[in-house]
Amino acid sequence: MSDLQQTLDRIAGAPDLHSLDAVRVEALGKSGWVTALLKTLGGMTPDERQQRGPEIQGIRNAVSDAIAARKEQLEAQELDRRLATERLDLSLPAPTRPAGTIHPVSQVMDELAEIFADLGFAVAEGPEIEDDWHNFTALNMPESHPARAMHDTFYCEPLDGEPARVLRTHTSPVQIRAMMKHGAPLRVIAPGRVYRSDSDATHTPMFHQVEGLVIDKAIHMGHLKWTLETFLKAFFERDDVAIRMRPSYFPFTEPSAEVDVGWSMEKGRRVVGGQEGWMEVLGSGMVHPSVLAAAGLDPDEWQGFAFGTGIDRLAMLKYGMNDLRQFFDGDIRWLKHYGFSALAVPTLSAGVGA
Ligand code: DAH
Repeated sequence: MSDLQQTLDRIAGAPDLHSLDAVRVEALGKSGWVTALLKTLGGMTPDERQQRGPEIQGIRNAVSDAIAARKEQLEAQELDRRLATERLDLSLPAPTRPAGTIHPVSQVMDELAEIFADLGFAVAEGPEIEDDWHNFTALNMPESHPARAMHDTFYCEPLDGEPARVLRTHTSPVQIRAMMKHGAPLRVIAPGRVYRSDSDATHTPMFHQVEGLVIDKAIHMGHLKWTLETFLKAFFERDDVAIRMRPSYFPFTEPSAEVDVGWSMEKGRRVVGGQEGWMEVLGSGMVHPSVLAAAGLDPDEWQGFAFGTGIDRLAMLKYGMNDLRQFFDGDIRWLKHYGFSALAVPTLSAGVGA
């Protein structure tokens, strides 16, 4: 039997891909016999090559065609075997995917939006890189105003011909933007990030505030007080939340009031509710006529009230956390403990670990 016939027989009889490959190496591999035949072509005279060439190429093609055909057969057999024997057990439990949690700041922002939506407020937004005019001047803090110094501002490198920009030091500039965009009457809250050059256990260079603004006709401080009381009761989920307003000063409100909330000790912890003591939670007041005018509203026609507070602080008070810096450390263990389920319906009562 010729070498070729023997090789073709072994290919046809190869029981699996592994033995088929062994035959391939013996024939077509580096030191295979077909390879050796092909090499002899190099030493032949042109006449010999013309004579023997087609025959040798024919052997090579016959072998590689036979291997390809047998390979296809064996693969089809293997697939049939797997289809016949392998089963997917759909009743096996699926591996669980790790679920993320909602950061307390996001949770509180959702709660604020929910509470104020019930009171007819929309959510307004503004840029975090804010121009000096919206952040200060329009809010009645002209360039020389001492209140600017209280804000520990991060200034941005000015670009040629552009207005001076700062990282907004509060959410109050959104008041101006909302009034200029929507006019009056208006009811908005503006939650978001703010920046000040400050860092200790109760201050971080970036933190969160929420601003509230109501513009309408015949608005007075009674409306402000009712709104804040209603908001704080809903937010802390207690009817015994008491508030106290103290005269204060903000350049953008007149009169201005700081708002304290009553606290009491429960199980060794200070909680909001009752009146054992007071702590400050909000700044507020009636919108200053100059602010209304700067935003294009006629102060003789429209009045309004505004308030602002720290979202991180509200979260700390409600959910009993004591170090503000941990909010922004990105420690997954902290988030696992204080985070909120991403799957629970976001209601006010979805408390810690819900
Ligand atoms: N913008 C003030 C701050 O960052 C907070 C504030 C006080 C906002 C009184 C107000 C307000 O809207 O009426 O300290």
